[in-house]
Amino acid sequence: MPTLRFPAIILNFKTYREATGEAALTLAKIAEKISRETGVEIAVAPQHIDLHRVASGISIPVFAQHVDPVPPGGYTGHVTVEAVKEAGAVGSLVNHSERRLRLSDIRECVAKLRESGLVSLVCAGDAVESSAAAAMNPDIVAVEPPELIGTGIPVSRAKPEVVTETVERIRHVTQRVRILCGAGISGPGDVEAALKLGTDGVLLASAYVKAKDPEGLLREMAGRLLGKT
Ligand code: G3P
Repeated sequence: MPTLRFPAIILNFKTYREATGEAALTLAKIAEKISRETGVEIAVAPQHIDLHRVASGISIPVFAQHVDPVPPGGYTGHVTVEAVKEAGAVGSLVNHSERRLRLSDIRECVAKLRESGLVSLVCAGDAVESSAAAAMNPDIVAVEPPELIGTGIPVSRAKPEVVTETVERIRHVTQRVRILCGAGISGPGDVEAALKLGTDGVLLASAYVKAKDPEGLLREMAGRLLGKT
């Protein structure tokens, strides 16, 4: 897979208006600037429609938010691994809480991403789901309790036990997969707490895309990861 450095911050733009079209590129460029300035790995996941625009405008890693487990061909309205790779993505989120897939489809997406040399980041809602995801041998698993997503209540502080249990269960399955946590991550302290719980970084969305000062926020978050590589 393309080499990603950890700890990492992955920014999911979802379909937020504040992160659509030109605004997606602007937020991605800020992420690139902070990544360069601090040396911390920061990746962005814009909407499919913005993938090419963003990937051509920056040099930090770009993820798709979703791929469908279908080959190129007669699949109208689907998004293939081949298409996101061609658009410049280095990997894709799979099974995000807002874009759930069947187990067999998650497995298929992970396999297709690997065959294409792309990074697979499988999302899971709790520790049990996370260890099941890890057993599919993706590159990264992100645990995100759905009830905290978009609330501003950080999983790393409100439900630290979910994160530690996830790390424990996954480590029984494999040492290889990287582990992130997400949901409600809003401030630098939440990022630091996530690392202390044994993760390799965070996946976040609303706090960054809706921030009054996204650059300042990201600089402070990245600052907490400095020296932890
Ligand atoms: O993929 C990131 C995510 O679901 C968490 O969203 O807005 O709580 O950071 P948010």
